[in-house]
Amino acid sequence: MTTPKNIYWCDGSDKEYDQLTQQMVKSGMLVPLSSQLRPNSYWAHSDPQDVARVEERTFICSIEQRDAGPTNNWCDPGEMRNELTGLFNGSMKGRTMYVVPFSMGPLGSPIAHIGVQLTDSPYVAANMKIMTRMGQPVLDILGQSGYFVPCLHSVGAPLDDALEDTSWPCNPTNKYIVHFPETREIWSYGSGYGGNALLGKKCFALRIASVMAHDDGWLAEHMLILKLTSPQGSVRYITGAFPSACGKTNLSMLTPTIKGWKIETVGEDICWMKFDNEGYLRAINPEAGYFGVAPGTNGKTNLNAMRTLWGNCIFTNTALTDERDVWWEGMSDDPPSHLIDWKNNDWTPAASTPAAHPNARFTAPACQNPVIAPEWEDPKGVPISAILFGGRRSTTVPLVYQAFNWTHGVFLGSTMGSETTAAAAGQVGQLRRDPFAMLPFCGYNMADYFNHWLSIGERGHAEKLPKIFSVNWFRKNQEGKWLWPGYGENSRVLKWVFERCDNTAEAVETPIGLIPNAQSLGISEIGIQEEDAKELLKVDAKEWDTEIELISRHYERFGDLLPYQLDNELAELKKRIDSI
Ligand code: GTP
Ligand code: SPV
Ligand code: MN
Repeated sequence: MTTPKNIYWCDGSDKEYDQLTQQMVKSGMLVPLSSQLRPNSYWAHSDPQDVARVEERTFICSIEQRDAGPTNNWCDPGEMRNELTGLFNGSMKGRTMYVVPFSMGPLGSPIAHIGVQLTDSPYVAANMKIMTRMGQPVLDILGQSGYFVPCLHSVGAPLDDALEDTSWPCNPTNKYIVHFPETREIWSYGSGYGGNALLGKKCFALRIASVMAHDDGWLAEHMLILKLTSPQGSVRYITGAFPSACGKTNLSMLTPTIKGWKIETVGEDICWMKFDNEGYLRAINPEAGYFGVAPGTNGKTNLNAMRTLWGNCIFTNTALTDERDVWWEGMSDDPPSHLIDWKNNDWTPAASTPAAHPNARFTAPACQNPVIAPEWEDPKGVPISAILFGGRRSTTVPLVYQAFNWTHGVFLGSTMGSETTAAAAGQVGQLRRDPFAMLPFCGYNMADYFNHWLSIGERGHAEKLPKIFSVNWFRKNQEGKWLWPGYGENSRVLKWVFERCDNTAEAVETPIGLIPNAQSLGISEIGIQEEDAKELLKVDAKEWDTEIELISRHYERFGDLLPYQLDNELAELKKRIDSI
């Protein structure tokens, strides 16, 4: 159908990776970085119209519209198949089609799932080598009859003989990111960037996997997984669902500022969770690499990320230095005096635009993370003690609070709000509801998803289920300055969470949940004024009146499908707020 010039089967070897990257260097798609400064690493800059996920072009084509729900774009699967067949017809003309077999989860593990992506982008093939377990070993596992999720991808830029290729082929005006949940298929057209194109990640490991998880009684979530070790050597695993560009990668690999505590990474973006035989929820990271936000990353905010990026990486839409290294806003206090910006133009600090795109990303092998947990590839997964739900909220939501119980925790997840970021095309900084950080990633009706979370609570035992918390690193004061230093200092919040799981930390009951006192977070030690500390943990009745109003409107979208338990939780919250 796509009529490629050649077909190439990826074996996933290092030699093949070298060939792919060399070929892209020749075609101008990659620039090799200095082998002294950043060995075996490359810089790419995309078409300015292909820089982030495109949510308004993302579709869930279930047979019934009802099953896509009110938060997803839907189109009749038959119609969509016709539309796409037209587009894919001849779409790979003049290009090589790469056959990319990949495993989400450790090779051969009973919880892993396999996909095969057909793509006409060598950049995608190279990124998939870093992000997944890719190549011949996957075909060996599949054998003649194994099951895989078919993933079809084209940048949507057929090459006529006369046409010279651009350095980032894509279709700037016609993009489709399409999922057929019943037949478990993914078709992606027109974009070569991130989650639009690396189909193992959001399309498979979240949208399609969330449908599989609903059917089979597990959870596929947009969550980091971290391992926290106390000074006494006791270990707890914690997951956290934060929307795109809201701090998962940073939290999963942070350097604690509090003495004796240790954090190690299991995963930084996606988490699959299942009950084990003893009734504990266990989590695995289905990915093998990090596709992380570059801007804001530096030796102070995230030293472990900087150390992960020493080599063997692909940088996309960062700036390029004169020494052939990469730079982005926030990497150093003072920018270099000259750069090539992400649009491939000369740049100096006098420029009025940033040198790196705000959604510039690194692709890095997970195994290079110096604080990766030794058990990160354990097919059994790690038992989860706590789940954090967090958004980017400049007002209303305190630094941290604990849910009263599982159902209340599901209420917190279902009502999460966050200010939008550059990870998706569109306006930045707009408050929107992003339930469980899954708004763009849930492959079915979000009301059914809420019910699924409630049913997990019914299956589990209260004392074995993870405790649920809300966190917000992004609350601001009247002058618009962040009240909380964030990053490594977030370890103070993790310590409180850990101790709540151990029943050794105190909490104050408020109408919204259980809040620590400033003392137990050691807030005075980090020079936060008493007034700001109060502001950070404050529950303001007026702000919560507005919040309840916003939650009501959000819930209205689900009509009769909204689980009654969540309606009850909202009514109870309103009563408690009205009484202060
Ligand atoms: P995705 O990969 O898009 O899912 O993002 P993510 O959730 O992994 O977010 P990430 O950790 O990459 O952080 C996104 C941005 O938020 C970066 O620019 C970080 O520097 C910034 N950030 C992360 N943690 C904090 C924090 O605690 N405080 C503040 N102020 N900024 C933070
Ligand atoms: C996100 O947007 O949540 C990401 C980046 O992790 S992408 O892979 O492009 O979806
Ligand atoms: Mn993400």
